[in-house]
Amino acid sequence: MRQYIIAGNWKMNKTNREALEFITELKAIMPATKAQVVVCAPFTALSDLVKATEGSNIAIGAENMSSKDSGAFTGEISPLMLKDLGVKYVILGHSERREIFKETDACINAKVKAAITHGLTPLFCIGETLTQREAGHLVSVLKTQINGGLEGLMADDMKKVVIAYEPVWAIGTGVTATTAQADEAHVVVRNIVSAMFNASVAANVQIQYGGSMNAANAEELLGKENVDGGLIGGASLKAADFVKIIAAAK
Ligand code: PGA
Repeated sequence: MRQYIIAGNWKMNKTNREALEFITELKAIMPATKAQVVVCAPFTALSDLVKATEGSNIAIGAENMSSKDSGAFTGEISPLMLKDLGVKYVILGHSERREIFKETDACINAKVKAAITHGLTPLFCIGETLTQREAGHLVSVLKTQINGGLEGLMADDMKKVVIAYEPVWAIGTGVTATTAQADEAHVVVRNIVSAMFNASVAANVQIQYGGSMNAANAEELLGKENVDGGLIGGASLKAADFVKIIAAAK
């Protein structure tokens, strides 16, 4: 049985004060849930967020990190630094990182390996653009991203990896994949993972859907057999919206 994982991705939003206000509210209205709840926040808010969520069932994640432990990489944040703060998760390979910051599958692969080495759970993001989907390249795009991003991992390592399927055309657009499109893509992902590792890894890996998931569509999306959670951008910025998605994961 795969557990649900509901993770917020704040992107470049919220000052430290705003982050703490959110967490105070979230803790106050948090529904009883068996889902893993994660808030992924900007680096500047991580330290205080970890302290503010101690003893709760809310885990804190980063939105990116370096693949290197330390060194001359001005402006970068290392996995050791995240680990030291008590951060448990890290979003890697988000489409905005791929597109705006030109992260390649090889670079994301190095980060995924570094996260596993340091005991951080990567939320490994993949997804096709609308042009790629319309050209019939869904399977090949996901295959390239998965094979490249998870290259060199052992079947055992996959117990520590969460995959987030985020069709680029659905991110921040208000256009959500239909439940059938989401489930179908998640099956494609499981098949690729099965071929790369084995059937048991594919059956056990948690796959989140991301792309305009919100309080209104979460229950239907999360009701699909192969959808094990959500990676939520816009609708994770207000605690009142986020809790509705958490409550839908049942
Ligand atoms: P969205 O973002 O929910 O605002 O579409 C999702 C994401 O980018 O992870």
